[in-house]
Amino acid sequence: MWIFLNDKFVDRKEAVVSVFDHGYLYGDGIYETLRAYAGRIFMLQQHLARLRRSGRLIGLDLPIPEKDWPALLSAAISRNGLTDAYLRITISRGEGEIGLDPALCPRPTAVILAKPFAPYPSHLFQDGVSLAILQVRRNLSAALSPQIKSLNFLNNILAKQEATRARAFDGIMLNAEGHLTECTISNLFFVRGGRLCTPSVECGILDGITREVVLLLARENGVPIEEGRYKAEALQQAEECFLTNTTMEIMPVREINNTPVGSGRPGPLTLKLQELFRRNLSRFLE
Ligand code: PDD
Repeated sequence: MWIFLNDKFVDRKEAVVSVFDHGYLYGDGIYETLRAYAGRIFMLQQHLARLRRSGRLIGLDLPIPEKDWPALLSAAISRNGLTDAYLRITISRGEGEIGLDPALCPRPTAVILAKPFAPYPSHLFQDGVSLAILQVRRNLSAALSPQIKSLNFLNNILAKQEATRARAFDGIMLNAEGHLTECTISNLFFVRGGRLCTPSVECGILDGITREVVLLLARENGVPIEEGRYKAEALQQAEECFLTNTTMEIMPVREINNTPVGSGRPGPLTLKLQELFRRNLSRFLE
């Protein structure tokens, strides 16, 4: 496995980072997860724009020029002999003396990792997954904005542990006001009264790139959309529910807190959006 580290591709064994790296010491850094289909990357420019935004929000200049990214990511795919690939870009603050000041770190550490894409088991798409509504709240936007895709992932990890304890596939986090936000690594959608509903960005979520594509496809196909603030009770009236992210695309939800959503089977709008996603996929590949 070839891993890009700072300025060159190195073998996995040589891809090591200092224990003084502030990414390791403090979770000070950012990342992106991307996916390649037959060698072409899904929503590449949007992922790179979000990486830059995360960097801007933590005062971190990307150590790789904007124009170099597409070729580097392609090289990460081809050098590893991949076509369908999972890609992770990680940029940490870099190595520096102990202390919080980013000025202690002269140079960020950049890593690009590419590995074969491992799809979720097909039975999850056929049957849908189970969710639990969690006690762990989503980070407060004014404290650590969920719009920063940061290496500081403990909020989501604590949420994931709670979901696992509840024997659920994943969990839904509420914000401090008790409104729905998102799951640990995905955005949440539900259908109510025939409308496609999803928590608005103001609720304190990561504005997922798959979410954006799903909203676009829904809009183009005349599906009524509502982005809003919803209490957990809204899910009791949901006819359908699904999750979105880069690796799942659109994942149906079968039950929430052990109660079936609608028929307990992937619903018609979920299936229609999955079909639209597949049919339009090539539009979103670069
Ligand atoms: N996670 N919300 C959170 C908290 C996420 O971590 C992610 C992505 C999403 C969906 O974003 P997108 O559609 O751009 O993948 C929403 C990625 C997959 C990860 O953590 O690896």
